[in-house]
Amino acid sequence: MLRAAVCVSGGGTNLQAILDSIDVGAVTNTEIVAVISNNRGAKALARAESRGILGLVVSPKDYPDREAFNEAFTEKLCGLAPDLIVLAGFLVKIPPQLVTRFGNRIVNIHPSLIPSFCGVGYYGLKVHEKVLERGVKITGATVHFVNEGMDEGPIISQQAVRVEEDDTPETLQRRVMEQAEWILLPKAIDDIANGRLAVVDGKVRRV
Ligand code: GAR
Repeated sequence: MLRAAVCVSGGGTNLQAILDSIDVGAVTNTEIVAVISNNRGAKALARAESRGILGLVVSPKDYPDREAFNEAFTEKLCGLAPDLIVLAGFLVKIPPQLVTRFGNRIVNIHPSLIPSFCGVGYYGLKVHEKVLERGVKITGATVHFVNEGMDEGPIISQQAVRVEEDDTPETLQRRVMEQAEWILLPKAIDDIANGRLAVVDGKVRRV
């Protein structure tokens, strides 16, 4: 059974998609051992609690500097002994020491087709605002392994989503979630839990 720890910052709809997929058997061989948030008020924590899943808060605001937060966050995660760390809308940069310890065992969902609209400053609704500003016709979502860069690790899966002329950032965000994120992230976890993915020469291959 794959022990997955899920990191969240906000609404937690991606967390919900994972939980629902476990319920219906679309994600197998997986147990969510904890939900960790930097944000005490995250609705995602309530979703975890309602399922009896351990919820933890580790916020940069509670530490004197970034290094102290990085140490505490890494320690907390390692203490859970997860096989996989899932960033499901986690808007804090992952400590480099955690990336080193969990090479190709951290996955992230990003709401664009990487390498477009990603990197520093591109997160949450901001991604969709920039997509609309630029006027692209196709956007989407990407699941990737996390390396020391920002949105730069090996790509696991991507799904394109059409931009409509009357879209607002909110309507576009919702469509990207419904047509891409809530499908891609559970599927990637299921593939990892069942040994279907390998990273070869920095690229993800199905095995
Ligand atoms: C999702 O759209 C996710 O892709 C994005 O934050 C949102 C969280 O929603 N993540 C990033 O932007 C990471 N760079 P949720 O809390 O409802 O799952």
